[in-house]
Amino acid sequence: MRTYRTDDWDRLRMNYGDPHRQLEPPECEIAVVDGALAVLQEACILPHARYDHEKMLAHRQAVQELFEIPWTAITPRMQRLLYAVNAIIQPPNMIAAGVFCGNTFISNAGAAVGPGACYTAHDLVGVEIDPERAALAERNVRQIDPTGVARVVADDAVTFVDGYEEAIHLLYLDADGSPDKGKGVYLDILEAAYDRMPSGSVVLAHNSVNSADRLDVYLEFVRDSNYFRDSVNVVFDIEGLEVSVK
Ligand SMILES: C[S@@+](CC[C@H](N)C(=O)[O-])C[C@H]1O[C@@H](n2cnc3c(N)ncnc32)[C@H](O)[C@@H]1O
Repeated sequence: MRTYRTDDWDRLRMNYGDPHRQLEPPECEIAVVDGALAVLQEACILPHARYDHEKMLAHRQAVQELFEIPWTAITPRMQRLLYAVNAIIQPPNMIAAGVFCGNTFISNAGAAVGPGACYTAHDLVGVEIDPERAALAERNVRQIDPTGVARVVADDAVTFVDGYEEAIHLLYLDADGSPDKGKGVYLDILEAAYDRMPSGSVVLAHNSVNSADRLDVYLEFVRDSNYFRDSVNVVFDIEGLEVSVK
């Protein structure tokens, strides 16, 4: 288990209602994300650390122009990192659990659909348990991807993943579960997916920092070398992202 931590991780603050506001000069954002990608490459989670910066910006602009986002906790750093990880791994199948309005989902799927696309995917699914939120996310995603390769379904992510019959190459976790379970639902979703995740597949868990207490059993699982080859906690904002490779 490794940690990538920037000096300013707890000072970088975003307004959740104003997600497109630039929080730092672009060169600082790029350098911070490059630092994270280098650690992920060192851990052999990524084969390299290169991605197309212009395509990432085209993706960002399309989301800003076309998505209705009531709020989001995805910082520009996190948006860039999610895009880059997907652009580098190029997962044929990706499932994102707990996508709210779809912003987190498209931060991942935008590497394969829309103006930021840099590869051809097979099936990219966002799962959202709340039907109204799922409908909003699906409307947003359709603005960027008319093909349907990226789609949103209204379902419980545990049920959906359990019934998914194909390989899952990248799993993004952001569901906040029932009031008693909270983010502890990550482990239920991962356990439902685990057998369909081939060696080398990757799990991204948002809120590895600000929900670390609720995620303690999840984090113990992905940091156990019996189950995952390596795991890196990326701490560059107050939310954080645990990146684990099977
Ligand atoms: C707090 S939101 C994530 C927001 C995201 N971090 C962002 O910044 O845009 C979590 C979402 O997970 C959904 N959710 C909770 N439990 C779920 C489950 N079992 N399956 C799918 N979605 C779930 C909730 O309805 C909610 O929309």
